[in-house]
Amino acid sequence: MTRKRVYVTRQIPEAALEDLKEKFDVAVNPYDRVLSREELLEGVKGMDAVLCLLTDTIDSEVFDAAGTQCRIFANYAVGYNNIDVAAASKKGIVVTNTPDVLNDATADLAWALLFAVSRRLVESDGFARAGRFRGWGPMLLLGRDITGKKLGIIGPGRIGFNFARKAKGFDMEILYTGTKPNAGMEKQLGAKFVDKETLLKEADFISVHVPLNPSTKHYIGEKEFKLMKKTAILINTSRGPVVDEKALVQALKSGEIWGAGLDVFENEPDIEPGLIELDNAVIVPHIASATIETRTNMGLIAARNIIKVLNGAMPETCVNPEVLER
Ligand code: DGY
Repeated sequence: MTRKRVYVTRQIPEAALEDLKEKFDVAVNPYDRVLSREELLEGVKGMDAVLCLLTDTIDSEVFDAAGTQCRIFANYAVGYNNIDVAAASKKGIVVTNTPDVLNDATADLAWALLFAVSRRLVESDGFARAGRFRGWGPMLLLGRDITGKKLGIIGPGRIGFNFARKAKGFDMEILYTGTKPNAGMEKQLGAKFVDKETLLKEADFISVHVPLNPSTKHYIGEKEFKLMKKTAILINTSRGPVVDEKALVQALKSGEIWGAGLDVFENEPDIEPGLIELDNAVIVPHIASATIETRTNMGLIAARNIIKVLNGAMPETCVNPEVLER
């Protein structure tokens, strides 16, 4: 019997590929870069399954290039805004993602950004390395307190909840907003559900944890920055387009808000001109889930989903279950 074929659009931790390689013929993008459109269309041709990344735009053209035998696109991310899920469903292709295993890594990075911005860690590091440290100074690199402040969470989903849970040690009051109240946030964390405007006006730290979809594009823009405190710090580890990056540069430049910690950008890998020069922004290259353990676990889920679907079983984390019901 001929072995089924799997295409992996970029090298991921090898441990995650071992099982796949044992069971199927696996081809991996040989380059250490995102595939060009042409390479992607060529790579998926004739494959039974594809393990793809958030940097791959997966649409009808890609599904057609893969062919009608293709059963699954397993996205190596919890977010799947890079995939036209409706088109996949129409063609009977299963789409899966990698939820839960990255909750802590992503929440941890959001905290790292919160600390980095409020205590000016990157600026301070640069200052010391540049040989500018001439002794303790009462006004040197003053930041903002964290303990006892008000934390605002936009999107109390799995990652937002984990982020909020970690605030306990800092005696913070937690506000959150979203489409509906979340019992866990209230009962386990004592968080308070408020409307968007209240959260923007009252929170000292605002952390964004919503998926990108038409209703969350530019959820934070000029109007929202005007509502925030001048001392507010915005953290975004969700998706870049949730924040209007031009408006953010303006808000940071004009002192409308105090700072921002960003893991994601509107037009990755490009960064809005002006942002890089700002000391009150800490910017990292979409590394929220980038720990060895988490990236391996993400790969293992994606691999298990592929193995299950190609063996006629149910995947663990399907985002278009209607395909399985047919
Ligand atoms: C995700 O999984 O959506 C993250 O952005 C990857 O780091």
